[in-house]
Amino acid sequence: MTTASMFSDSEILEYLQGSNEKELFDKAYRCLAEGLGTTVLYRGLIEISNYCRNNCLYCGIRAGNTSASRYRLDKEEILGCCKRAVESGYGTFVLQGGEDNKHSIEWLENLVKTIHSEYPNHTITLSLGEKSKDDYIRLYEAGARRYLLRHETATRQHYYQLHPDSMSFENRMECLRNLKEIGYETGAGMMIGSPYQTYNHLLSDLRFLENFQPDMVGVGPFINADNTPFSDYTNTLLAPDDEASIRLTLRVIALVRLLVPKANIPATTALFTLGKSITMDECVKAGANVRMFNVSPEDAKEKYNIYNGKSDGK
Ligand code: 5AD
Repeated sequence: MTTASMFSDSEILEYLQGSNEKELFDKAYRCLAEGLGTTVLYRGLIEISNYCRNNCLYCGIRAGNTSASRYRLDKEEILGCCKRAVESGYGTFVLQGGEDNKHSIEWLENLVKTIHSEYPNHTITLSLGEKSKDDYIRLYEAGARRYLLRHETATRQHYYQLHPDSMSFENRMECLRNLKEIGYETGAGMMIGSPYQTYNHLLSDLRFLENFQPDMVGVGPFINADNTPFSDYTNTLLAPDDEASIRLTLRVIALVRLLVPKANIPATTALFTLGKSITMDECVKAGANVRMFNVSPEDAKEKYNIYNGKSDGK
C-alpha cells in the first residue's frame, strides 16, 4: 500500500518556484525539530583520490580533464586524516574520491578494516562511486556502514545530458538499490541548477527520493568547473545567478526534509562555496542537519576541484 504524498505535484512545483517560501521553511524546520532534532551533526571529509575513470560532463575531475593535477593519498595519509577528524571531535569519517582504477577492492577492503579496527566507535562512510554488488558487500563486511552515491537526476533523458553514453542510468539506480539491500545507510541526491534541469526534473527527483526514502540526501548547487564541457553554462531558468541558485537549493532542502523526514541532510560545501555569507543556521532553518568539514591534507584540498572555488567548509 502506498500512502498519499503530503504534497501534490502542483504544490511542489509552486514551492520550487518560490511561493510561500517562509511557510515552506517553517514547516521543514518544525519537521526537523520534531523528528531528528536541530542539533547539527559533524562529519570529517577525507578526499582520498581525484583520479576518476568517468567523464561526467559537469565535473572538474572528469577523466577527460587533462589539466587537472592528480593525486592519490596513501594509507598512512588517510589514517592521519582520520586522526585529525577524531581530534576535531567528528564521529564519522567520509572517504570520498573519484572512481580510481588503482583502488583495487583488496586495497580498499584493507583500508576500511584498518580504520575500523583503529576506531571501532567511529562510523565509516564511503563515497567512491559505482561498484559491483560483491564489492559493496566486501566493503560492508570490512566495516563501512554508510555509502553516498548521488543519483544526480531521476530523469533518464536528463541523465544522458549530464553523462556520456559509457555511463548508465540503470546501473546507477541499481547501485543505490544494492546498497540499501546490503544494509548500508544509503545517500542519494542531486545538483540544483544543473545543465538543462527544469522544475519538472526536480519534481521527479523529489518523487524518487520520497519513494526510495534514502538515509541521507546531498543537495547542492551546480557550480561551473573549468576545463569541462559546462565550464561556461548557466541554467537561465532555474539558476540565473548565484542568489537564485542558493534560494532554490534551500527550497529543495526544505522539500526533501518534508518528503524524507528521517534523512540526514547536509548543508553542502557547494552551497557554502556559492553563498559566501550563508550560515549553517540558515540551512538548519530550511531543514538541513549535517555539516561536513574537510580534514584532507592541504595539497589534496587544493586539487580536489570538482568545481571552481571549492571552499573547505571552514
Ligand atoms: N558543481 C556542483 N556539484 C558537483 N558535483 C560534481 N561536479 C559538480 C559541479 N560542477 C557533485 C556531484 C557528485 C558530487 C561528488 O559532487 O553531484 O555526485
